[in-house]
Amino acid sequence: MTERAEKRQHLLSALSCGVVASAPLLLVAVYGSSASLGAAELIEQQSSRLSALIQPVAEGEAEGEAEGEAEGEAEGEAEGEAEGEASAELRDAVARPADYQPYEGEQAALLARGEELFYDNSLSTNGMACATCHMASSGYADTFAQPFPHRVGMALTDFGMTEVHLDEMIQICMVAPMAAEPLAWDSEDLAALVEYMKVEQEKFRER
Ligand code: HEC
Repeated sequence: MTERAEKRQHLLSALSCGVVASAPLLLVAVYGSSASLGAAELIEQQSSRLSALIQPVAEGEAEGEAEGEAEGEAEGEAEGEAEGEASAELRDAVARPADYQPYEGEQAALLARGEELFYDNSLSTNGMACATCHMASSGYADTFAQPFPHRVGMALTDFGMTEVHLDEMIQICMVAPMAAEPLAWDSEDLAALVEYMKVEQEKFRER
């Protein structure tokens, strides 16, 4: 396995712990340790959970709030140390690094590149593009209308982050639904997606 592939698989298996843990505890009993699952199964598990998330977007908010508290507590007690490590690792993969210096470029060029990337399914390892889920302002919970940083359901349940910046949210969607590695923090691609997602956010607010 190449180093990149190894890293990806590592992230995926860490994610699967989060996915299993944030589902009802019954699932933990059914799946047991994620170590026995292959990458394809992990991706499958992830995407079925995500499609469950996408459909009730209207309910998303209420759910997010109820889940955040009730589940957070139950999770905290039921999970062992292994879980804590997995979510810390996931968080590290998508949280801004201490020395974060975003790429700076010309805005119109970034925007054009960002739009291209939004429709580019080669960014993921599972054939999805951002647009697969977020076509025409779809697939977002109401939190997207709020100024960043803010709280996002998926960031809290799967990554243990109480609030996220826009670039962190993009990295979360790269790692979780797109089943890919996060983009380089100083990359033009990340800066481009940030610019484009600001436009998406405006459209979302006006919908
Ligand atoms: C498989 C579907 C899927 C794909 C593909 C996907 N996302 Fe998401 N995205 C979601 C879901 C589900 C949410 C809502 C999460 C929540 O509110 O808990 C979301 C939320 C977001 C949000 C808004 C969070 C907020 O409430 O402020 C942004 C920004 C975002 N995605 C960006 C992206 C980008 C950029 C890509 C491509 C790199 C992408 N997404 C790919 C499913 C997806």
